[in-house]
Amino acid sequence: MDILVIGGGGREHAIVWALKKSPKAGRIYCAPGNAGIGQIAECVPIAVNEFDKLTAFAAEKQVGLVVVGPDDPLADGIVDAFEAKEIPVFGPRKNAAEIEGSKTFMKDLLHKYNIPTAAYEKFDSYDAALAYLNTQKAPIVIKADGLAAGKGVTVAHSMEEAHQALQDIMVTKVFGESGAQVVIEQFLEGQEMSILSFVDGEIVHPMPAAQDHKQVFDGDRGPNTGGMGTYSPLPHIDPAIIEDAIENIIKPTAKAMVAEGRPFRGVLFAGLMIQPDGTPTTVEFNARFGDPETQVVLPRLKSDLLEVFLAAVNGTLADVEIEWSDEATVCVVLASEGYPASYPKGLPIEGLQSAGNEGDAIVFHAGTALNAEGQFVTNGGRVLGVVGLGAGIAEARDKAYEQAEQITFKGKQNRTDIATKALV
Ligand SMILES: Nc1ncnc2c1ncn2[C@@H]1O[C@H](COP(=O)(O)OP(=O)(O)OP(=O)(O)O)[C@@H](O)[C@H]1O
Ligand SMILES: [Mg+2]
Repeated sequence: MDILVIGGGGREHAIVWALKKSPKAGRIYCAPGNAGIGQIAECVPIAVNEFDKLTAFAAEKQVGLVVVGPDDPLADGIVDAFEAKEIPVFGPRKNAAEIEGSKTFMKDLLHKYNIPTAAYEKFDSYDAALAYLNTQKAPIVIKADGLAAGKGVTVAHSMEEAHQALQDIMVTKVFGESGAQVVIEQFLEGQEMSILSFVDGEIVHPMPAAQDHKQVFDGDRGPNTGGMGTYSPLPHIDPAIIEDAIENIIKPTAKAMVAEGRPFRGVLFAGLMIQPDGTPTTVEFNARFGDPETQVVLPRLKSDLLEVFLAAVNGTLADVEIEWSDEATVCVVLASEGYPASYPKGLPIEGLQSAGNEGDAIVFHAGTALNAEGQFVTNGGRVLGVVGLGAGIAEARDKAYEQAEQITFKGKQNRTDIATKALV
């Protein structure tokens, strides 16, 4: 079966890498892909928002399955576009992707079905939001309703910061229409974790939990990024807490989506906060694989990913058993100088050949391209994700950093403390 994967980051490299292992997989196309993906699949120069071109390409190549990576096309209805052409596609329809695309929708849904989440108020006018904000105290959280490339949330530690965030969203409109509504939310204390699940309606198969490192510098300092590293499993978290989140948050949410007439099919990503008393509560839902969570979760998948996707698409997800390895994985992101602000592109990357691509370490490309001489060069903020595998977090972590050190490019930056929290 030929397959089309949509997207071009580290997440999509990991998806393509996992699909490639399936005996059923034929040609794998990736639109637009990147230089690393190009080593194992056929990259197609179509952007993720060009639905007409993508559906035409899939029809022409008669692909048996389309897999969608990024959030924006899902929120814009890419799955509906493929379904209209009767092309099998793994991912949520537009009305289900709204669980990520609209924070007010997500919060109202959880509230209606009594699913744990931080207390909140929502507003569609600046004056009303400001009046409410003036009755609150810092710390407090201000969220633009719509997608904002991961930048729409401010955890304000002072009221000045909160006022500024509200102004940016609703007056200056830095996120455009995404800021037409705003959520003002209670600040939650605790430790975060992510649980991704394969979902079809009420059927939920959770993947192993992972933790992300959002800030750019060691010790969780500096501005937020798309993610500087991840690891899985979480040996320092009581498994009962993970079970609690699955039973009392993720499964009820899948059920609620069905009850609302918006059955979710795809990967449902729960962003959770483990509160100081050990109870998990919901920070957010995403409607897709996480990046870089996928890079640490899929290498632990022992089952055939293509079979899992097909079961979801064919309505037989309840019948599949999904197996995971006990191995630990740690992903260290190598980023460009200046990221998450502006950064240079086109810098040659050395040492990729010596860095392993199988066995104990895997290098997933995020922002890479080939220059005219056929050499790998940087082409994004996050350039590579180096994943180490081992019997435990310590071994996986050593493998990841060993490989990460062999790879060099001018201005390379990475955190040196990925997964240290889990060294128990
Ligand atoms: N109520 C809260 N209390 C404390 N921290 C919070 C709260 N809500 C959000 N955060 C912090 O802000 C981050 C981003 O929030 P959220 O996940 O809602 O936004 P997002 O832009 O959708 O993120 P992503 O890009 O990961 O999808 C969270 O991972 C968490 O660290
Ligand atoms: Mg989100």
